[in-house]
Amino acid sequence: MNICVIGAGYVGLITSVSFAKMGNNVICVEKNIEKVDSLNKGIPTIYEEGLNDLLIECLEKETISFTNNLEDSIKKSDIVFIAVGTPSLDNGEVDMNQVYECIKEISKYIDRYKIIVNKSTVPVGSQKYVKDLLIKNGVSCDKFDVVSNPEFLREGKALYDFFYGDKIVIGHESQKSRNIMNLLYKPFNIQTIFTSPETAELIKYASNAFLSTKISFINEVANLCNKVGADIDTVSMALGLDKRISPEFLKPGIGYGGSCFPKDTVGLISIGEKYNCPFEIVKSAVSVNNKQRLIPVDILLEEYHDIKDKTITLLGLTFKSGTDDIREAPSLYIIEELLKKGVKINAYDPMVSDEIKEIYPNINYFNNMNESILGSECIIICTDWEEFKDIDLDFVKDNMKEAFIIDGRNMLSLDEAKKRNIKYYSIGKGYTN
Ligand code: UGA
Repeated sequence: MNICVIGAGYVGLITSVSFAKMGNNVICVEKNIEKVDSLNKGIPTIYEEGLNDLLIECLEKETISFTNNLEDSIKKSDIVFIAVGTPSLDNGEVDMNQVYECIKEISKYIDRYKIIVNKSTVPVGSQKYVKDLLIKNGVSCDKFDVVSNPEFLREGKALYDFFYGDKIVIGHESQKSRNIMNLLYKPFNIQTIFTSPETAELIKYASNAFLSTKISFINEVANLCNKVGADIDTVSMALGLDKRISPEFLKPGIGYGGSCFPKDTVGLISIGEKYNCPFEIVKSAVSVNNKQRLIPVDILLEEYHDIKDKTITLLGLTFKSGTDDIREAPSLYIIEELLKKGVKINAYDPMVSDEIKEIYPNINYFNNMNESILGSECIIICTDWEEFKDIDLDFVKDNMKEAFIIDGRNMLSLDEAKKRNIKYYSIGKGYTN
């Protein structure tokens, strides 16, 4: 099929290469010409496992191309995916401006029947709004259908999820659009739910809000574990054995981050408020998460009271391992608090992009974990990078000013820390006295 994807961010890029891999002709439209040039040369603009190879393969087979020419791309396509950003506004509402701008532009070039697909995460009712907007802009209603097709891709595993995900959700109104979307997704062989647009839109928010709630729940259990001497790993494992609960998303830590959970939880709360359905449970999940990500600072203050001029090492800056993304990462909230309190920060992350160096130029960034630890008074592990499991505790003991680790992702062993007389604090797996 001839497909146009608007936006070459995480979602747009993964959608583009995945459909191109399946033999469709994909044109990905992106305003930023530097991104367009880079992608046409086979250089991905984001890090994502497997993306580099797949991009090169599709470019070689000529099933994908990148451009900033919207008109041409729309005219050549049967299906247009909108994958532009939908960030949160300060009041929690979803900022739909990029979607609306996009629709305004598309309206000018719809010269024959096309399916317009909302791939971005958009509030319930957006399919209807987009449809009305197209009609208002003079597009005849027999020339298009608007479909809601939310994504369930995890960053770092996005390609895997596109090809082997648990579900595809298609919110449609006409049989014609249902048939075409069915043909497009059939080769993926994934269970597909055809439903109304409103249901599809709500499935996306409900999924992310439920997973966020699960994380906040296990984090509260973990906090209690530390108080009563229970072990969160065993509690979590036992909970997960119950098939009704499942073991996924029961890993405690210093909270969830990223471009989705923080945005979609407040997004759902704001949608609920609009319809007089206050989402008390999601509100609590958000407030637990806001507190959870600052636990390392609370521990530091309990320990030292005044942390001014102390040197603290942050291990991991990205919101999770396997990505270079720092959006809404708990590390950012910790950095803000530490800087306010006059702390000197060392930081090491195996993959973080230069973006953070521009935001926080006064942090000492290191390319090596051990160097970032030298002379430091506390290590805070913020991200679950595998290499942190191999931290040399003898090196820590010998080379830190004070051997103190706050393990925000439970990467290390309390017993090993105890053996070496290292002060250690985990999230629900105990701490040294
Ligand atoms: C999430 C969802 O998992 C995807 O299904 C969805 O498509 C995507 O949002 C989106 O809406 O686009 P993502 O944000 O990439 O994907 O990352 P996750 O792997 O879900 O992790 C989110 C956060 O939760 C991370 O900060 C992670 O460290 C944290 N987390 C996850 C935990 O603290 N504990 C867990 O057990 C799992």
